[in-house]
Amino acid sequence: AVTGMVMLLAAALAILAPPARALDRSEFPPGFLFGAATSAYQVEGAYLEDGKGLNNWDVFTHTHSEGIADGRNGDVADDHYHRYMEDVDLMHNLGVNSYRFSISWARILPRGQLGGVNSAGIAFYDRLIDALLQKGIEPFVTLHHFDLPYELETRYGSWLGAGIREEFDYYADVCFQAFGDRVKFWTTFNEPNLFTKFAYMLGLYPPKHCSPPFGNCNNGNSQREPYVAAHNFLMSHAAAVDNYKKNYQAKQGGSIGIVISMKFYEPLTNATEDILAAQRALAFEIHWFLDPIFFGEYPKEMREMLSSDLPEFTPAEKRLLQNKVDFIGVNHYTAIYAKDCISSPCDLNTYEGNALVFATGEREGVQIGEPTALHGFYVVPEGVEEILRYVNQRYENPPIYVTENGYSQYSNNNMEDMINDVGRVNYLQGYLSCISSAIRGGAKVRGYFVWSLMDNFEWRYGFTVRFGLYHVDFTTQQRTAKMSAKWYRDLLMGNGPMD
Ligand code: NOJ
Repeated sequence: AVTGMVMLLAAALAILAPPARALDRSEFPPGFLFGAATSAYQVEGAYLEDGKGLNNWDVFTHTHSEGIADGRNGDVADDHYHRYMEDVDLMHNLGVNSYRFSISWARILPRGQLGGVNSAGIAFYDRLIDALLQKGIEPFVTLHHFDLPYELETRYGSWLGAGIREEFDYYADVCFQAFGDRVKFWTTFNEPNLFTKFAYMLGLYPPKHCSPPFGNCNNGNSQREPYVAAHNFLMSHAAAVDNYKKNYQAKQGGSIGIVISMKFYEPLTNATEDILAAQRALAFEIHWFLDPIFFGEYPKEMREMLSSDLPEFTPAEKRLLQNKVDFIGVNHYTAIYAKDCISSPCDLNTYEGNALVFATGEREGVQIGEPTALHGFYVVPEGVEEILRYVNQRYENPPIYVTENGYSQYSNNNMEDMINDVGRVNYLQGYLSCISSAIRGGAKVRGYFVWSLMDNFEWRYGFTVRFGLYHVDFTTQQRTAKMSAKWYRDLLMGNGPMD
């Protein structure tokens, strides 16, 4: 009861507390992209319309609804497919100059290369892109945000079969050709590192495979699978980037990168073991994908610990890979403590298990930051500065876009409570202040996207948590600006009425 009282008091104080520090747009370089982000499966709906093929998530949510907190799915989601004009207006009112969204592969190529291009799918993104440009909003496009045609999932086990590389290369080429005259920012993959863990280690995302030391989903439990999938992601990325650079970049004048999910790991204690554990966690999360792209090799921590379970790059693969991104996309939400599990055993059922690292939000009973609705996500604004500095140093000062950053609240029926999202305002303000400080420290951050423009289908959490600047009533599809939308608008456009 006493703890409850203390928590209530703390919550009341957080609501009353004035925002940390006034933030000004002029702290960010000219031409900085300020945007909001979404992804196709999470917002579009229209899952069976206009020739779209089924994708892995359509099938997974229907056959494994027990894997989604509220048993729901993205069949309708935000109905953005039909309401995109209204949503572009929301963005215009916010004052963002960029919108990050993803293309639904199954809308463009319902059966992969086999069945040909669905012209209605192309037409939808044409309309969306044109509407954005008309309002002065730069499209920032993700080619793969966790969804792919179901037929390719069954044919290749999604990312397990090398045949997927050619499929992705083909899909990317169709997109460059159709939209590249107007799209100047491309990313191949969104969070392939997180997707691989959830789909091939933890059995939480389609195709629902597990690998030791996690779970048991009767798929042979090969420790090698996640690393084979990652290898195929990396080589698919490389092939698409190579094609873009050779055949499109000069005439279209755009840039291309990849988006990696990055937590910041703080050693739990200052013992050498924990310092090394934090380093290993970063290696298994970030270096896993970025070292091959920048240095042509998996990180040494992974090579040592996984030995023959980790694929090797052939000389031809290395040549295709190296130095082929114009920027790095950083998705960052939280920092967490890292504890070593080599010198003393711990519960390995964590995302960091293969690195023999235990991630915990608590040190001596004190949490690393205020918890949010998403398990394991805490508010630690300084973490973003740490991670930007880290990426900047390790990958030799690359251009960076913070492609996602955001705050989750639990969904409930109290509209007022949902709209008065003080927690999100404080979060965004704190993180943006630390990003501006990272820029002053030399990080080449060129843009920032809030996750998300509006509440949407949050994968295994379904609609139980909300990330939006706009509240969405999923019965009426009505969008309502939250306090955070107004705050963001004030930052971007100065004070004034909001429609
Ligand atoms: C990462 C993913 O890219 C996005 O799809 C997801 O909704 C957010 N982070 C929040 O978990």
